[in-house]
Amino acid sequence: MANFGHEKVEKHVGLMAILIVIVISFGGLVQIVPMMYQASVVEPAAGIEPYSALALAGRDVYISEGCYNCHSQMIRPFRWETERYGDYSVAGEFVYDRPFQWGSKRTGPDLARVGGRYSDLWHEIHLINPRDVVPESNMPGYPWLAERIVDGEQIAARMRVLRKLGHPYTEQQIDAANEAVSGQNELQALIFYLQGMGIKSTTSTNTGAPQ
Ligand code: HEC
Repeated sequence: MANFGHEKVEKHVGLMAILIVIVISFGGLVQIVPMMYQASVVEPAAGIEPYSALALAGRDVYISEGCYNCHSQMIRPFRWETERYGDYSVAGEFVYDRPFQWGSKRTGPDLARVGGRYSDLWHEIHLINPRDVVPESNMPGYPWLAERIVDGEQIAARMRVLRKLGHPYTEQQIDAANEAVSGQNELQALIFYLQGMGIKSTTSTNTGAPQ
């Protein structure tokens, strides 16, 4: 009785495996569950609002065209990252990103703070044929985006779903969505999304301490 069944556990690999799984699961829960309620993770950072109808349409294009295969949207808290891209990203910037586009594959640069770095015209030329502005670029061109018109009904429906998930869209915003994107093509929507990236949060969210 002195060893509290220790010998039994050590001599039965199956039992030991089960007990290890229980211990690790418990340890995992202790770390994960409090995170789900931590304000800095689940509440929007200062200035962060749900995407407008046009930005949401652009974000859809970003995802459907697979831009995330080459671009991350998360600046790590290291000096060589912040000097190149700007303030490092914090969790509160991504509460309205479903799904988030953090990524780790960087064939191209991180885009988390690309908003305002170039003109709309630069983006337009770059997205149609990147080599017209960056001769050595290996990014593919997306000329067809200029020919596809954004579906306003679909964006309104999407906003309704996001509202169910907790994004604070008002009824007016949803009603106006169709109008807001009307006549815009996917290229314009994508550029609008890119130009909004990271611009609200560059100065207001970072407290200096890594989260
Ligand atoms: C095959 C990989 C690849 C894919 C896919 C890709 N890119 Fe790129 N992207 C790059 C590379 C490499 C660069 C750097 C050279 C250049 O500027 O073209 C780049 C640069 C950029 C830049 C300029 C960033 C900066 O800070 O200079 C933007 C904006 C951009 N890409 C947006 C997009 C968007 C939007 C999509 C999807 C429609 C996309 N990319 C898809 C590889 C890719």
